Amino acid sequence: MPRRLVVGNWKMHGLTADLAELRAIDAARDIDVVVCPPFPLLTAAVASASHVAIGAQDCHPVESGAHTGAVSAAMIADAGAQWVILGHNEVRTAQRLDDAAVAARVAAAQQHLNVILCVGETARGDGGVAEQLLASIPATCDPIRLTVAYEPVWAIGSGVTPAMDEIATMHATLRQTLTKRCGPRGDAVRILYGGSVGPANAAAIAATPNVDGVLVGGASLRAATFAPIIEAMDMKGRDECVAA
Ligand code: PGA
Repeated sequence: MPRRLVVGNWKMHGLTADLAELRAIDAARDIDVVVCPPFPLLTAAVASASHVAIGAQDCHPVESGAHTGAVSAAMIADAGAQWVILGHNEVRTAQRLDDAAVAARVAAAQQHLNVILCVGETARGDGGVAEQLLASIPATCDPIRLTVAYEPVWAIGSGVTPAMDEIATMHATLRQTLTKRCGPRGDAVRILYGGSVGPANAAAIAATPNVDGVLVGGASLRAATFAPIIEAMDMKGRDECVAA
């Protein structure tokens, strides 16, 4: 059983004063917590947190060059961050990235960072998530530096989530896909659920089979809503330790 992981994606939110929200949830725990603020806050976020790891929300597929406005994985690591979210639907859409372009970013990022690779169907009932995952994983993929987030696009920011058994089934499919693609090391890749995770549904999601953690957008911006989600995932780990 891998350690559980809770990731906060601040998207394009957050000024220096908002790092108080990060400090408020910075505590030693039995699970891993990562917060991904916008690029300008990375260095200050790293300095603000002792237990929470810091990540970025995207990176360019090459190390450096004439790419105005872009940020490379080496730069993110140089700022002290250890993680990057790649293939988030908002980035796939805004930058018109196909799966091959996402895979190129994953390959480049894994030279420096742990990657949270997002996949998910656009409309409820659409298939193709396992195929999207396979096409977004580069040939050189290092499973040790890979986490997958299942984020149904229709659940992001909508307040609607799949049924818990739908999440469990999708995660089982993604696990099989990872094991087929990466061999036994695919078993250790954490699979997160993301899309309208909040304090009200965190315990149910934490108790869902095959869920190794969550990727949280809106509810990660304030400690008042993020801390109960972290607690819910932490409780699941403790329950399993007691049961074992
Ligand atoms: P949400 O966003 O929690 O606000 O739905 C999730 C995400 O986009 O990662």
